[in-house]
Amino acid sequence: MLKLTAKHKIIRAYYKELSDFNQLGKTHEGTVKIAFQHLLESCAKQCQWLLVQEETLKRSPNKWIRLDGVLFDSSHLVRGYWEAKDSQDDLPVEVQKKLYQDNYPNDNIIFQAPQRAILIQNGRNILDLSLDEPAHLVRIVEQFFNFKLPEYERWDLAAVEFKERVPDLAQQLLALIQKAYLDDKAFATAFNHFANQCRQAINPNLADAALEEMLIQHLLTERIFRNIFKHPDFAKRNIIAREIETVIEKLTAHVFNRDAFFESLKYFYKALEEVAASIDEYNYKQHFLNTVYERFFQGFSVKTADTHGIVYTPQPIVEFMVNSVQEILQQEFGKTLASKGVHFLDPFVGTGNFIVRVMQELAATSRLDLDYKYQHELHCNEIMLLPYYIACMNIEHEYVNLMGKYRPFEGICLADTFELAEDKQMDLFAPENTERVKKQQETAFFVIIGNPPYNAGQANENDNNKNRKYQTIDERVRETYAKASKATNRNALADPYVKAIRQATDRIENEGIVAFVTNNGFLDNIAFEGMRQHLAQDFSKMYILDLGGNIRKNPGKTSNVFDIKVGVSINFLVKSRSQKKAIFYAHIGDTLNKAEKLASLDSQKHVGNVNWKPIFPNKNDVWLTEGLHSEFEDFTPLGTKEAKAEPNSVEGVIFRIYSRGAETTRDAWVYNFNQQVLSKNVRRLIKTYNQELKRWHNDKNVKLDDFVLNDDTQIKWSSRLKECLLSGQQATFAQRKISHSFYRPFCVQFLFFDEILTHRQGQLPRIFPTPNTETENQVICVSDKGSEKPFMVLVSQQFVDLHLVGAGSSTQCFPFYTYF
Ligand SMILES: C[S@@+](CC[C@H](N)C(=O)[O-])C[C@H]1O[C@@H](n2cnc3c(N)ncnc32)[C@H](O)[C@@H]1O
Repeated sequence: MLKLTAKHKIIRAYYKELSDFNQLGKTHEGTVKIAFQHLLESCAKQCQWLLVQEETLKRSPNKWIRLDGVLFDSSHLVRGYWEAKDSQDDLPVEVQKKLYQDNYPNDNIIFQAPQRAILIQNGRNILDLSLDEPAHLVRIVEQFFNFKLPEYERWDLAAVEFKERVPDLAQQLLALIQKAYLDDKAFATAFNHFANQCRQAINPNLADAALEEMLIQHLLTERIFRNIFKHPDFAKRNIIAREIETVIEKLTAHVFNRDAFFESLKYFYKALEEVAASIDEYNYKQHFLNTVYERFFQGFSVKTADTHGIVYTPQPIVEFMVNSVQEILQQEFGKTLASKGVHFLDPFVGTGNFIVRVMQELAATSRLDLDYKYQHELHCNEIMLLPYYIACMNIEHEYVNLMGKYRPFEGICLADTFELAEDKQMDLFAPENTERVKKQQETAFFVIIGNPPYNAGQANENDNNKNRKYQTIDERVRETYAKASKATNRNALADPYVKAIRQATDRIENEGIVAFVTNNGFLDNIAFEGMRQHLAQDFSKMYILDLGGNIRKNPGKTSNVFDIKVGVSINFLVKSRSQKKAIFYAHIGDTLNKAEKLASLDSQKHVGNVNWKPIFPNKNDVWLTEGLHSEFEDFTPLGTKEAKAEPNSVEGVIFRIYSRGAETTRDAWVYNFNQQVLSKNVRRLIKTYNQELKRWHNDKNVKLDDFVLNDDTQIKWSSRLKECLLSGQQATFAQRKISHSFYRPFCVQFLFFDEILTHRQGQLPRIFPTPNTETENQVICVSDKGSEKPFMVLVSQQFVDLHLVGAGSSTQCFPFYTYF
């Protein structure tokens, strides 16, 4: 609910800005509307909404209108429209003309000129006020913001309750499924068959819990697909839904009554369906459903969502990428999206945004071309059930919309894209799905487009939520990107987006385009030098549009286009027969916020309008060389890995031994300001660990990850601690293992340091082997290469933490003495 007064700073700022413009003699609509735009933006912020400027709405197949602004709430529902007019215009006449001739939306729209505003709600003129009076401005803006369609009201109420109930409902369904599995033979057989299919199609390590969750997701959402997309036969026609229904039929045969179970939820589905029906702009409907999916799906499956990197791609990014592919096809290959043989693949389709956008582009020139592409040359994969359903619906719905008839979309597979690189025949879920996968594997792709998942691995070993390993793709990354890298820590190469780029590069044969929006870490992180080297060899041209947004580099900024912590870039990697190679780079602008970045993409439209700078990598495969000094290479290094490995004295370095700071991975357990509290914590941790060790050695028949106690209040696992457990090492407490450590600049704490509970000790045992050495030795600490924080130097007389300057940055220590 928006609340203003005539003296509110938003209102004062509006009049001040207007009077500034007046003094400068600027009264033209284009200039003065900025003041009203700022007013709407500030009000939107108060409500946690978003004002999107210059929106184009489709009124009929050939008619588009452009509005100055559209207000979206946090569910991505449109709450109002804004149209700015010139001070010279006769506002009432303009309003009539727009509303009735141009078919403007009339639920809640404000027409505004510098001196006057008219508010239309439900098609009726509600207010027509002069804006010279601040009180009038407050009245009209409050009325505009506080308007809500009744179906939105019902939806908001239902959604709040449903979100709370989802975990409960899921739990009830889970109990039913688990009971049926024990009591009902027919259901158990059907479930086992389904489990086998899923393990082959999706992941051999898929736990029963994940399978049960798929059934629950299906039960909870199937009605939405049937009704919102007006697809009454969804569960019969969709090849995957059909398989799941056969398992559920067995469940419903004896154990539970589906209709009765869902009776109490009718109002939620009804509210959802009503809202969806009220959204006539298809893009908005799709976005709203994405939001619904994120809110409810992630409510009971956060861990899966986390591993698969489910983040939906904002429409301006999809738009920019599809337009750019169109442009590159034309400029580089003399082709268009419609050209025969230009096969598209979105390997991580999510809810289908990229495919839908390509279809719209095709339909704009020829429906025949669209029909052909749809049947033969559009392909995509999705690994998660719900996005898979939504993608099927979205794509098929768009086809009906554009072609006026239904045709099932056969280019989508429920499959793990990375697994498809394995050279083996698989039975993938349903015969039709297997057939589709086979067809896809035999296809030569010209364009691979999409938004790959972005998760580098679990942040916390206790989550037991690791990215799975893929033999072929992991090997390809190892033998190329990792092999060509001199960096010690190459963990970042485990990120799925790296696999996605590797796989797409291999999948495009001699000619074609990889268009991915990804983490931008590969542009400058040291672990990626080998990847940069290979990309420069594999592709003839690359266009990298850096969207920035790394929260660690710019703390406190809300400039990430996906609202994630890592920076993002849009990458167009072009393979052609040309021998000439080039890399082009542009940064969208560090100072822009998310909305401004998206607006900038909208206004640039495609790669052809970007102000590119060529990049000339140096001999170390550094691409972003601005500010680097070429003479750096001639300096004597402080230390090198080669010298460190050499047991006898070496020349050409200043320090033979150096070490990373202490990497604990369990700071909360092994650091403390109070030595007694630290001892207590560590003793408890050791007790749990040793109990787990004993338990494990009595019962080794399960996977370790599934076996161990994943309780953050009792223990914090790391890969090293699990290795110690596997090799049967007991942990022991000793007072002498407690030392001082430089945790953050000018902040010393007690640290428990030993070979089991410190994840990586580095060379520190040779630098501070005993407490006495803290009085005679000292180390020079510097930020490591590739750190996300600015360079820093400190001297320490005690242990130093790996993240001395903070997360995302490591520390290297160069000692005065070393002890052998
Ligand atoms: C970052 S999202 C992109 C979604 C999509 N572009 C959109 O905007 O709706 C990545 C999607 O890829 C799916 N995914 C992740 N790993 C996958 C894999 N190995 N094979 C197929 N799909 C995968 C996720 O479930 C998620 O829906």
